[in-house]
Amino acid sequence: MSNPSQNDLSTIDVVLHEDRKFPPPEGLIATANMRDPNIYDRANADVVGFWESAASRLNWYRHWDTALDWDPVGVHARWFVGGTLNASYNCVDRHMNTWRQNKAAIIWEGEPGEVRTLTYRDLYREVNRTAAMLRRIGVNKGDRVAIYMPMVPELAIALLACARIGAPHTVIFAGFSAESLRDRILDSQSSVLLTADGGWRAGKIIDLKGIANDAVAQCPAIKKVVTYQRLGSAVHHVQMEAGRDIWWDEALDQTKETYIEPEQVDSEHPLFILYTSGTTGKPKGQMHTTGGYLTDVALTSSWIFDIKDSDVYWCTADIGWVTGHSYIVYGPMANGATCVMYEGGPGFPDKDRYWSIIEKHGVSILYTAPTSIRTFMRWGEEYPNKHDMSSLRILGTVGEPINPEAWMWYNRVIGKENCPIVDTWWQTETGGIMITPLPALVATKPGSATRPFPGIVADVVDRAGNSVPNNTGGYLVIKHPWPGMSRTIWGDHERYIKTYWEQFPGIYLTGDGARRDDDGYFWLLGRIDDVVNISGHRIGTMEVESALVSDPSVAEAAVIGVPHEIKGQGIVAFVTLKSGNTPSEEKAQELREHVAKVIGALARPEKIYFTAELPKTRSAKIMRRLLRDIAEGRVLGDTTTLADPNILAEIKQLYEDEQ
Ligand code: WTA
Repeated sequence: MSNPSQNDLSTIDVVLHEDRKFPPPEGLIATANMRDPNIYDRANADVVGFWESAASRLNWYRHWDTALDWDPVGVHARWFVGGTLNASYNCVDRHMNTWRQNKAAIIWEGEPGEVRTLTYRDLYREVNRTAAMLRRIGVNKGDRVAIYMPMVPELAIALLACARIGAPHTVIFAGFSAESLRDRILDSQSSVLLTADGGWRAGKIIDLKGIANDAVAQCPAIKKVVTYQRLGSAVHHVQMEAGRDIWWDEALDQTKETYIEPEQVDSEHPLFILYTSGTTGKPKGQMHTTGGYLTDVALTSSWIFDIKDSDVYWCTADIGWVTGHSYIVYGPMANGATCVMYEGGPGFPDKDRYWSIIEKHGVSILYTAPTSIRTFMRWGEEYPNKHDMSSLRILGTVGEPINPEAWMWYNRVIGKENCPIVDTWWQTETGGIMITPLPALVATKPGSATRPFPGIVADVVDRAGNSVPNNTGGYLVIKHPWPGMSRTIWGDHERYIKTYWEQFPGIYLTGDGARRDDDGYFWLLGRIDDVVNISGHRIGTMEVESALVSDPSVAEAAVIGVPHEIKGQGIVAFVTLKSGNTPSEEKAQELREHVAKVIGALARPEKIYFTAELPKTRSAKIMRRLLRDIAEGRVLGDTTTLADPNILAEIKQLYEDEQ
């Protein structure tokens, strides 16, 4: 995997000729939660009926009147209309009436090594106390609560406590900067922020409270900030502001109620807002509602990961991303699963941390990302081989296309050729997994996410919206509404329509390219818009560009994604400085840090090239496509629309000089 762009091409080549097939293991065919091969046909014959029967897995206070009310023109989807329920009740309370009350809900490991186990009863107690605290500080049904926390159990508890009182949460990943946090708090009009004094990552402290203070200073609507003490003042001192700030534990102790009646919310009541990057500088707040979303994630968790009561399930994502929302908290907990939660980095204190967690807790289902698998490959087999991981029985991946080489390594070294791999394609917008094998029913092929989940109507179409023949690339679209779909972009329904529903009316445009093979398997080909996928996380190139031009020395910037050996893609920026500024290595370093400060470390460019000008069309549009061609060493595409073709030759020279 030395030359990333070559690797990319050879991957595509392998993918085109991939004919290895791995059938489901015999044992699973007899025992899996979903093992009826007719399920696909049955679901297709009656998509709405299929999801309706899935909704019966949940406890409803009031049964719905209509399963789906769909207006493809205004783009309003309402699922299980007239039904009322509560997500916290479904993830916690209902297990109280069963033996599961004493079952481990969360097995948590802090990065320094401490372990906390919370049973469903513990979770129930803490969710109630936290809900009572939120009420006491003035959070009412419908109020938004921003959450900026490390991976501690209180983060999962906070989500469920918000759900309990009908207050939509908006979680901001703890790697985001003060500015990103501020923008999301402002956009969601949150009145309360839940945070922590810090967290551990790769042996270092992340100063969450310091960042939160900087953000909140510019958020006048925030009335209260509740700070969980993860580190303690002996380790890390933080600044508290009288009147606004309270410590989590003190706030809990002051609250006497031990039971908060779950709000009986409408099926379409907002459960959460989660921001994701798009093609403009402004992140989009995807709004998910209660009944449909919970139905979707409860069913997909059960069937795809085959979670049973005897399983120990570990999703390595952060709850700050949709994967953590759907497949650490809501989906698994609606199924009463035992979930492992880990706070820190994979390489701390040594490169076998994940494998030691699996051995210690007997993890049987592991859900992780291709970027992590590639990192582990590079670190070497000796790290997993030090541990007994025979408890594993199902492996999952998510976040980006998995290259067949990484797939085969995952299968052989981690799964011992004994665990089906579920490569799950989905998005923040889709709420739940959309394209995936069902482990007892679908033979897998390395690099393919295989088939749409039952009840998901996916297709690959051309520009005109016509289905393309097999083995031809096109736009991946979803042709029928599904319960987990994002209902709108918070505060901007027009943008929601424009981004996803305008190109093909009534059809959801995913933003990904795909190809279907002769077996009907889907092969994801990556984003087709100006979004890059860094270690499975989406960053809009425009966001990075606006971060760059917010530096006083920058006149213009163009940002592209280039293949990256570990991260999948990396960010490369072409920057024109304002006169009076000189390009230098220091300047490049300064700008890289500037981007990390404005957005967060994950958006830090790998490389910055200084150019006198950027290639633009005569209408002044930056031609990123040409920059991508240069970066990937391809023959330059059509340059006839360029205002000044000479610029390109200069950039090309600059790029090649550095390689
Ligand atoms: C990409 C993460 C190929 C895709 C759940 C999508 C994938 C974006 C896969 C969503 C996969 C995610 N194979 N590509 N298995 N999973 N993607 O919103 O480009 O953070 O559009 O949701 O990640 O990223 P998001």
